[in-house]
Amino acid sequence: MNTPSAAPRSGFLSVLDLRRLLRLALLLALASAVAIPLIVPLAAGSAQAGHGAAKAEKSCILLVAFGSSMDEAQASFDNIDRKVRAAFPDTDVRWAYTSRIIRKKLAARGRVIPSPAEALATLLDEGYTRVAVQSLHTIPGQEYGDLERTIEAFRRMPEGFARLTLGRPLLSSTEDLERVADLLITLAPKQRKAEQALVFMGHGTEHPANVYYEAMAARLAHLDGRAFLGTVEGYPTLEDVARQLDAAKIKQAYLLPFMSVAGDHARNDMAGDEDDSWKSVLTKRGVACTPVLKGTAEYDAVVDVWLDHLSVAVEALR
Ligand code: CO
Repeated sequence: MNTPSAAPRSGFLSVLDLRRLLRLALLLALASAVAIPLIVPLAAGSAQAGHGAAKAEKSCILLVAFGSSMDEAQASFDNIDRKVRAAFPDTDVRWAYTSRIIRKKLAARGRVIPSPAEALATLLDEGYTRVAVQSLHTIPGQEYGDLERTIEAFRRMPEGFARLTLGRPLLSSTEDLERVADLLITLAPKQRKAEQALVFMGHGTEHPANVYYEAMAARLAHLDGRAFLGTVEGYPTLEDVARQLDAAKIKQAYLLPFMSVAGDHARNDMAGDEDDSWKSVLTKRGVACTPVLKGTAEYDAVVDVWLDHLSVAVEALR
């Protein structure tokens, strides 16, 4: 092997070389003095550094609502958003809507709101490690069940979140039911007179969780002889409420949505001018109706119930 190689410089280092070396060493020492304190905390803060790359903890709250395509309904979401950010000032807050129809309508107008799965995938991609998802639904029905399954899938995902928790909807225990029923009675318009009834309109569903609406109707009746609840798509029906109003000889009623937003159902099915709206049907049966177009999420005391459920989910991130 006689590959020619650069001959080593013979002789000792000159004084000039020594000076250069010293200067270089000093520069290196200075540079590392600045750089090391920056690098060490990043490395120490990482939970699991795969392939030597440090992964810092990043937390997020994902608020999941059914959604609404009506601009007027935004007041409810804005109120929740404001209250969540105030309660958790150090945590990022994102939104997702479970309704595909609403998302499509909004996207056509240039407002892109992700589905829960899309939102979670984005959070993973952005390096979030701990996410508390809060359901803003009213009952643990179909939409909540789907959300649970989505979360389960993300929990099984390789390279997924370190922690992924889910906060329960508005009504998910007897305690919630009693607390919210008390609130609904106190949320009645201040000018309400004793002979005036409160008629709440819930969504209703074929899902077994519809029992929450039946329980709420019973609870309201127990608290106030003139408080009633019906649903658009489940039991009790508008016909049930109309018969109850008739039996109690009620001539005046406030109509209020028992939905987080005063959206399409509240504005059209409840308070609309069409023949089959609650207002029209009850008016025809001799009950003068005053609609109140305010979703439950516009009342701070109701948002506090969702916030308490979110606190449990955030606590479980640790
Ligand atoms: Co509906």
